[in-house]
Amino acid sequence: MLDDPQHPYTQHLLKAVPHFDDGRAVRSDFSRLTTQAAKPALIVEDLTVRFPVTSGFFNRRSGAVHAVDGIDFDLMPGETLGIVGESGSGKSTTARAIMGLTKPTRGAFHLGEDGSASAHGDPVQMVFQNPYASLNPRLRVDSILAEPVIATGGRLDAATRTRMAELLERVGLPQDALVRYPHEFSGGQRQRLCIARALMLKPSVVVLDEAVSALDVSVQAMVLELLTELQRDMNLSYLFVTHDMAVVERIAHRIAVVYAGQIVEIGDAASVLSAPRHAYTKRLIAAVPSIERRRQDYRLDTTEVPSLVRPPGYEPPKPEWQSFGADHMARAEQV
Ligand SMILES: Nc1ncnc2c1ncn2[C@@H]1O[C@H](COP(=O)(O)OP(=O)(O)OP(=O)(O)O)[C@@H](O)[C@H]1O
Ligand SMILES: [Mg+2]
Repeated sequence: MLDDPQHPYTQHLLKAVPHFDDGRAVRSDFSRLTTQAAKPALIVEDLTVRFPVTSGFFNRRSGAVHAVDGIDFDLMPGETLGIVGESGSGKSTTARAIMGLTKPTRGAFHLGEDGSASAHGDPVQMVFQNPYASLNPRLRVDSILAEPVIATGGRLDAATRTRMAELLERVGLPQDALVRYPHEFSGGQRQRLCIARALMLKPSVVVLDEAVSALDVSVQAMVLELLTELQRDMNLSYLFVTHDMAVVERIAHRIAVVYAGQIVEIGDAASVLSAPRHAYTKRLIAAVPSIERRRQDYRLDTTEVPSLVRPPGYEPPKPEWQSFGADHMARAEQV
């Protein structure tokens, strides 16, 4: 069936599977090099998040989980930075710290000029992985969309209602959706609702944590397309967290590879994917499953992520970086 699909629907499904075979970044509608003069929409410096580990009868502090350790990057207006890495590498913790949902141990964020929130706006908004858990089942869609406005001290006035109607249309949902409840929508539609909710406050930066990972491939492709269009129309910057290399290849302009809480390689998506320099990035790319490669032996690398628990007071050595071209850097040491 996979070799020679007959029914158009089967063909459609197979075509929608994100392919990762050439390491080619699909999006070339943004060039960081030509916009170097512009100010970044978001600057993250030395972001560090540690969770205390306690042990024994007296709950003595015996160390800390170094979930995120000294992450630096900047994000330009209209740019998508993909954050990739395996489970437990610290991607969600990074996203949550930027949103203020987890308190960072150390580090600073700066928002660009137009990121200074206008009245009842919020410059950074988030879309989560699970569209079933991130919408309150007891609230009607109009209340869900109004929630961020009211939470930031705004009112449910005519302007807010107009924005709700506009955004619903923009994300491809019918107007009568406003008076319905989340359970009446499919997963893909719910994720569209979550996107509309995130845009209510006119953010300049949207943090998406595995935002399409729970969707089936054809819906996933449509939501990625929608995100791309919205980005173009509103000059949004995306911080796109995912473990899926094929998805990141489709949506990202730049990629940061995170390993054990640290960035090991960062740069232009095409260059990172087609000429990975760090051993960990090479391993991630080699492990991508695909229909074409289903008969090949993946020689799965089962190297475990090292323990992130460190003794109290431990500071990791300062990383050394090597540059490979205008916008591509990898850490000098090899995993
Ligand atoms: N509240 C917490 N307390 C203690 N440890 C935590 C806490 N939150 C996260 N961690 C640890 O931090 C590390 C990074 O977790 P994180 O959720 O950021 O990974 P991730 O890259 O998002 O993984 P996944 O791809 O599975 O979502 C993990 O080792 C995790 O166990
Ligand atoms: Mg996560």
